[in-house]
Amino acid sequence: MNILVTAGPTREHLDPIRFLSNRSTGKMGFAIAQAAAGRGHRVTLIAGPVALATPKGVTRIDVTSALDMLAAVERALPGCDALVMSAAVADWRPEQCAGTKLKKRGMNPALRLVPNPDILATVAPQKGGRVFVGFAAETGDPATEARRKLTAKSLDLIVANDVTASGAGFATDTNVVTLFAPGTAPQPLPLMPKLEVAQVIVQWIEAHWVF
Ligand code: C5P
Repeated sequence: MNILVTAGPTREHLDPIRFLSNRSTGKMGFAIAQAAAGRGHRVTLIAGPVALATPKGVTRIDVTSALDMLAAVERALPGCDALVMSAAVADWRPEQCAGTKLKKRGMNPALRLVPNPDILATVAPQKGGRVFVGFAAETGDPATEARRKLTAKSLDLIVANDVTASGAGFATDTNVVTLFAPGTAPQPLPLMPKLEVAQVIVQWIEAHWVF
């Protein structure tokens, strides 16, 4: 298969040196890219700003903002059989980005934000027979939000986790996730290295791809 994976945070700049972002490190998405390449798939990895080495055999495209990531996904998607959106895309961006550093004395302490497009919702009309996988990182039991996002974003699978659970979430090498797919019971996985969670997700995609 040709598998497109997104990973990491996005940065939403208000000037060349200041930005809004989040705590994503990209580890889960890079693990998925590594697992997929290891199983013989052709993998394109669209990465936000992260400090991780590119897994062997993976084609990497670096992006900064949510708008950059959307453009990169739209360019790569036509040649892909599956999309795994593990990136923690920033929901908002500053209304304006100054071309030069804003001076403290000239800055307005109220930052005006505008919503970023939802990448999955934007590319949903191009889904066709492709497998679409999303992530839901929540604080607390993710079940309700996972079910809602599964439907709202037309996904085949959502990988949900409570980022406050021990061994789960950002920057760790392990994760505790539950898989939600339409019409099936939730599949909770035990605490596992992110690479093993990634293997389960890649095998799920292989089993659910109808070509
Ligand atoms: O942010 P949220 O919890 O809604 O993210 C759920 C899923 O939607 C994730 O797979 C994420 O990559 C994706 N997403 C997206 N575009 C956004 C925000 C999130 O595709 N602007």
